[in-house]
Amino acid sequence: MDNKLFATRVQPEVPSRLAGLFPVMNYEDAIKFTAGAPAESLFPAKAMQQAYLDAMAAEGNHTFQYHTVDGPVELRERLAQRAMDKMQIENVTAENVMLTAGGQQGIDLVAKALLNKGDAMVVEAPTYVGALSSFDMYEPTYYEVELENDGLNTDQLEATLKQHPEIKFLYTVSDFHNPGGVTMSLEKRQKVVELANKYNFIVLEDTPYRDLRYTGKSLPSIKHFDTEGRVIFLSSFSKVLMPTLRTGWLVADKTIIQQLYKLKEAADLEVPNITAQAINHFLANNSLDDHITNLNKEYLVRMQAMIDACQKYLPEGVSATKPEGGFFTWVTVNDAINTTDLLYNEATPKQHIAYVPSKNFYAYKDHTNGMRLNFTGLTPAEIDDGMKRLGTLLAHAGQLI
Ligand SMILES: Cc1ncc(COP(=O)(O)O)c(C=O)c1O
Repeated sequence: MDNKLFATRVQPEVPSRLAGLFPVMNYEDAIKFTAGAPAESLFPAKAMQQAYLDAMAAEGNHTFQYHTVDGPVELRERLAQRAMDKMQIENVTAENVMLTAGGQQGIDLVAKALLNKGDAMVVEAPTYVGALSSFDMYEPTYYEVELENDGLNTDQLEATLKQHPEIKFLYTVSDFHNPGGVTMSLEKRQKVVELANKYNFIVLEDTPYRDLRYTGKSLPSIKHFDTEGRVIFLSSFSKVLMPTLRTGWLVADKTIIQQLYKLKEAADLEVPNITAQAINHFLANNSLDDHITNLNKEYLVRMQAMIDACQKYLPEGVSATKPEGGFFTWVTVNDAINTTDLLYNEATPKQHIAYVPSKNFYAYKDHTNGMRLNFTGLTPAEIDDGMKRLGTLLAHAGQLI
């Protein structure tokens, strides 16, 4: 096949950003800090099975027919209410809520709606690798803004905007960052909206982990502060229910949503009715909040085990973010250590542990001294054991420099 036949966005000679993210490791005592998956044992499988049956019983054969690009209004109404109650977004109606094929499709459709080739956008450094994999397809010019312990550096954002007033799009993970583990402060949320108004850009606030807060107080969404319809709030059922539902939802101004529907119709015609109806029945007959409370109880124990283990085992000069929820901790090591090399040469073959090395989370793949650690997929004992091995490994790597 002649590679020149492909559009430039595909770059056939370049592997997907998501390929090989999780190294294969088949040792019996392997401990994997890699996945961003929710704990399977906590899936509400029985209740969801019943919800699918209820959906089929309610609509009979019609359940399986073509439906519409916007999906059931009852579900969008429920989500509009949730956006007002939990995210503190005002005046949300079903028309402001769009259902997407996972949060991932929301990211992709927003990028497609905004970005012409070469258009300027800002991403956090580091940022969610799946978002980069989508943005890459629209061939933007990336400007990176560093992530701090209280969210993206808004001074640096403003300096970048002054220098590049053509920037039209900011992508941010505001709560329990993937991969950073940090949460944006209230002040920075306000500042982001202020800057969006001043410098005329759109903000995509991607928050699949928002409900998974284990300690501390919930903050209003960035969209809460939105005065000009510039912020798109994006959530997902993947982390709080199940990833296979492939259902995300976003809240935005109607004019934005109309453009996104054009793109969704072109991509996949419509929301899968059976799944949307099943989620609607699930929400009608079960308390999502009770389920989330249960998840948070279990995940808190795992997060605490990770925070304790970081303190106990990480050698001097190595820092770890201290999450209050979500799935991840981010570890930064000495600049001289390349965490990709360390993973393949030492961590997997010798210590039988795996993490996701930092370079995957940067637009230009040029930061090599960090790693993302997941704590929700492991028991506290596994976390302790794995972090002990990581501590040994890093102490040894430090001596080799
Ligand atoms: C920050 C962030 N956004 C979006 C997604 C996409 O999730 P989904 O498409 O399953 O909703 C993920 C998944 O890991 C994520 O971490």
